[in-house]
Amino acid sequence: MNNSILIIGGTGTTGRELVNILNNNQVEFKALARTNEKAEAFQSEGINTVVGELGNWDSITPALSGLDTIFLLTGASPENVKNQNGLIDRAKAAGVRKIVKVSAVVAETGSDVHLADWHGQIEDHLKDSGLEYVILRPHSFMQNMLMSLPTIKGQGAFYESIGEGKLPMIDARDVATASYHCLLKDDFNNGTYVITGPDSIGYSDVASSLSNASGKSISFLNVPSEAHNQGMKAAGLPEWLADDLTAMSKKWARSKDQPTNDFQNITGQTARSIDQFAQDYADWFK
Ligand SMILES: NC(=O)c1ccc[n+]([C@@H]2O[C@H](COP(=O)([O-])OP(=O)(O)OC[C@H]3O[C@@H](n4cnc5c(N)ncnc54)[C@H](OP(=O)(O)O)[C@@H]3O)[C@@H](O)[C@H]2O)c1
Repeated sequence: MNNSILIIGGTGTTGRELVNILNNNQVEFKALARTNEKAEAFQSEGINTVVGELGNWDSITPALSGLDTIFLLTGASPENVKNQNGLIDRAKAAGVRKIVKVSAVVAETGSDVHLADWHGQIEDHLKDSGLEYVILRPHSFMQNMLMSLPTIKGQGAFYESIGEGKLPMIDARDVATASYHCLLKDDFNNGTYVITGPDSIGYSDVASSLSNASGKSISFLNVPSEAHNQGMKAAGLPEWLADDLTAMSKKWARSKDQPTNDFQNITGQTARSIDQFAQDYADWFK
């Protein structure tokens, strides 16, 4: 079936990598772009593109015709449940067979962390939809370090409030790799997978990997939760998002979360380490 895969979120961190992997492997697919400008950028690379936006359903419904499988990812937004559940309903009505959804390790319906609750509600809706599904729950992305570029470049330091907590952070490129395998194979259908990096690491480990790779001293400075929260709000993060990140940091300050085997089982590969991430992104941090 030509173009029987639709990628939603293909212009973002994870989705862009997925688009590259599909393209490099000469898989037929089409990518959703929210603006004509982004669509033209895809088209200039020979990528089949449809312009549309979840929530603007007149732009989406025609794109669902004849589809077999959808990759579903959108950025963090209070519209997440309305938009993703709306897409699931319309996909079902259009005869789509399968959806691969990127969720999050924290997903939990009823959680007081909005992001966790929203992902939980969407997971529940997808499971109840009758569609085949794969739910990927990544742990914290290594690429989150790019949000600290201003202070890393300006002060040689980044600020977090999880103390000595350790997380099996994952490279978003590996989230894309796992998504690729789940889109093309049915072996993992109707399952939920926690995908992680290979090691449980703290921010001191991250600082040391970034320092080694970039050749400059980069320090992790732990700050009290309230100060971190105020800093994120002052930097322009929406209040709900800063509060969610603070709540997650409080939980993760006690975390000794360990890696799972799910990434390796799905892909047959070993996930990238923080050293690998730091080497590949070294120029960003110099
Ligand atoms: N960061 C983490 O540590 C982490 C960990 C686990 C899970 N997650 C989950 O991963 C997801 C974020 O992944 P990411 O960082 O790769 O995303 P991202 O870079 O923020 O990209 C979001 C993508 O979704 C598109 N999008 C947003 N709203 C849309 C709409 N209404 N209709 C169609 N497309 C829309 C964006 O399009 P535009 O380019 O037009 O904006 C973009 O392509 C979230 O669900 C988050 O909860 C993140």
